[in-house]
Amino acid sequence: MPNLLGSGFGLLEVSHRSATFQGVIDSAMDRIRRVMSVPDDYEILFLQGGASTQFYMTALNLISEGEKADFLVTGNWSQRALKEAAQVGDVVAAWDNADNGFRSVPQDGEYSIREDAEYVHYTSNNTLFGTQYHHLPDSGGKPRVVDASSDICGTPIDVASHDVIYAGAQKNLGTSGVTLVILSPWAMSRDKGGLPTMLDYNTHVSKGSMFNTPNTSGIYVLDRVLAWMERNGGIEGAIERNRAKAALLYGQLSSSDFWRPHANEFSRSVMNVTWRLADENLETAFIQQAEEEGIGGLKGHRIVGGMRASLYNACSMRSVEALVTFMQDFEGSNG
Ligand SMILES: Cc1ncc(COP(=O)(O)O)c(C=O)c1O
Repeated sequence: MPNLLGSGFGLLEVSHRSATFQGVIDSAMDRIRRVMSVPDDYEILFLQGGASTQFYMTALNLISEGEKADFLVTGNWSQRALKEAAQVGDVVAAWDNADNGFRSVPQDGEYSIREDAEYVHYTSNNTLFGTQYHHLPDSGGKPRVVDASSDICGTPIDVASHDVIYAGAQKNLGTSGVTLVILSPWAMSRDKGGLPTMLDYNTHVSKGSMFNTPNTSGIYVLDRVLAWMERNGGIEGAIERNRAKAALLYGQLSSSDFWRPHANEFSRSVMNVTWRLADENLETAFIQQAEEEGIGGLKGHRIVGGMRASLYNACSMRSVEALVTFMQDFEGSNG
């Protein structure tokens, strides 16, 4: 903090125009390219405004009025992405399972994409509902745009099969305030000009994500997190650890009728595990007693209710083991 890379300047005061910070952002971009195997002709951006800004910005840059895009709606974040894109073009939900409580993601063949759609948008991991794709969704041959906010670098992703990947950094990549955006040559070729400066991908690509002051400390943390990932087996190492954590917790949830996992088995997320208790009246006591044991943050999002354990990359196996032990004790006393 007080002396960034021996420069004599602190991380929070260093100019983003300094050579020291240029080294930091270059390093962060190189690490993203290496860790995610981003093709050389793809652009990498570190923007602000969160994934929520990308809901609109993707559509604004990729389609014009009257042009079409199809959305796979698997939770409230995809609903929001669809709503924002509707301000730009002709967008529809090619699949939507809100009626089924967003318990699963679609399998190929369960939806069809309009022939004249310009792209297909999906959300790779549904943070609130605890569902996730375990396959590359069929896009009917159209470019794929994905909101990967809650499983970026924690699950396999074939970057070359996508044209836009966006993700807030705050789950697996560092602190809040940085949004990673990865753009294919096709995405860059959609440039239609005349967009508001800050909402135009070209502005940020042409200035190396430094058209205006970037989130310097957030990008520094992202670089450090990626360095940690590289020392710990890269994306493959993270995937292996995440699968092991999720298997332990889902194993407990499948062990008796006391537990009611929210997601259908084939769509279960390795990042966010959601469940109810068969006796929902016990849920408040479960969350309270877990907190007393030092296991916090288990209350599910109010839209879903129940419990949610987020097993992001920084969550250790030891934490999940502690949770499972607590669950066994709780069931023993209340089952
Ligand atoms: C999948 C997904 N998309 C979008 C968002 C919104 O991100 P932000 O708060 O960075 O705008 C979130 C936040 O949790 C998310 O999980």
